[in-house]
Amino acid sequence: MLFNEWKLKNITSKNRLVRSATYEGMGDINGNPLKGLKDIYKDLATNDVGMIITGFCFISQEGRAMQPHQCGIDSDDKIDYWKDIVSYVKSISMETLLVMQIAHAGRQTLKKVTGLPVVSPSTKRSLYFKEKPVALNDEKIKQIINEFGDAAKRAQKAGFDGIQIHAAHGYLIHQFLSPHINKRNDRWGKNRSEFLRETILNIKDKCGNSFPVFVKISAADDDKYGLKIENTFDYIKKLENVGIEAFEISYGTMDAAFNIFRGTVPIQKVFEHNILFKNYNLLKRKFWQYFIFPQWKKGFITYKDNYNLPFAKEIKRNTNIPIILVGGLREKKVMDDILRNDHADAISLSRPLICEPDLGKKLKENINVRSICRNCNECIVMCDSENSLNCYGKAL
Ligand SMILES: Cc1cc2nc3c(=O)[nH]c(=O)nc-3n(C[C@H](O)[C@H](O)[C@H](O)COP(=O)(O)O)c2cc1C
Repeated sequence: MLFNEWKLKNITSKNRLVRSATYEGMGDINGNPLKGLKDIYKDLATNDVGMIITGFCFISQEGRAMQPHQCGIDSDDKIDYWKDIVSYVKSISMETLLVMQIAHAGRQTLKKVTGLPVVSPSTKRSLYFKEKPVALNDEKIKQIINEFGDAAKRAQKAGFDGIQIHAAHGYLIHQFLSPHINKRNDRWGKNRSEFLRETILNIKDKCGNSFPVFVKISAADDDKYGLKIENTFDYIKKLENVGIEAFEISYGTMDAAFNIFRGTVPIQKVFEHNILFKNYNLLKRKFWQYFIFPQWKKGFITYKDNYNLPFAKEIKRNTNIPIILVGGLREKKVMDDILRNDHADAISLSRPLICEPDLGKKLKENINVRSICRNCNECIVMCDSENSLNCYGKAL
């Protein structure tokens, strides 16, 4: 099943294996992609991944996330850098689809990273980033929608087969979708999926109706008053007619980041590399480690394989839009079962392809394959460092 062709509305993938968007730490100081990115994509493309989604690329300086080497697509001078990467990968594997993930961090960033005020639909702070955001006014909202459209157009010019809008994990669009963050009385709050809808329409207007637009969403999050699966059903229904190619189903926000991923929390590495923690002195670290961390940890959900499957199943029953499932997919047999039972249309992997870039080939050749990823999550914590993407836990 995994290696069956996947015909979408505007595009066809040679199979149903997707590399989920994964920050590669391969942007220079301005967000231009470094040449080494080619090799990451080449390894995936030559090992049977049908669709590669890039790590999240910022659409504007204001929308940059806190990771120091994030790539961007915020200006025309970046088009040629990306063109170089796309044409290289296509020259090696013409049929591999390349999709750029475009994002605005909203309140999930820091002023010291962007040099600009942090913005959000409201002034409600993120528990993790803690900066009080400036509430966006109507004019600024329209500007950001336009910036999404311009970013998508640049990705198209660079040769990407489509784009994925990052509407998950607590970033700006998720902030618009959250009933807790977005209590606005204007059109952006009365209908919380309006921002996403207008963004898609802007992209379609600039890139043409047939340019594939994928959307990654969190089906729900950990905020007691935040996003619930019922909200997500409602949004998906409202977005049914705007020409979305497929939804990718994820979970959570950066306020409880380890619930997006599940697995081990490598706390020492967090202290070493995370911009919010690395300046703690020894005393503060110890206090945090022994008193705060144990409490913090209680809020984390235990890792289980296929942890977003229950959401995907329900969403799939409620919509005709194709569904990509991500989160803890590790076994070939299970992936095939999910596809066979029509619980999802495609399977998306992030951590497994970091520790085994040739996993696609192994999955193709052997029905009994299981990923060796242990969910140690060192790859995630190292996103906050100067290092680029790697499996830091494999040797342990
Ligand atoms: C190192 C790393 C970087 C990630 N970067 C992104 C990203 O840029 N955009 C995104 O939507 N998700 C990102 N994710 C989340 C993954 O796409 C995926 O949703 C999550 O890891 C669960 O899938 P998995 O169990 O296959 O790893 C990242 C995950 C990892 C491990």
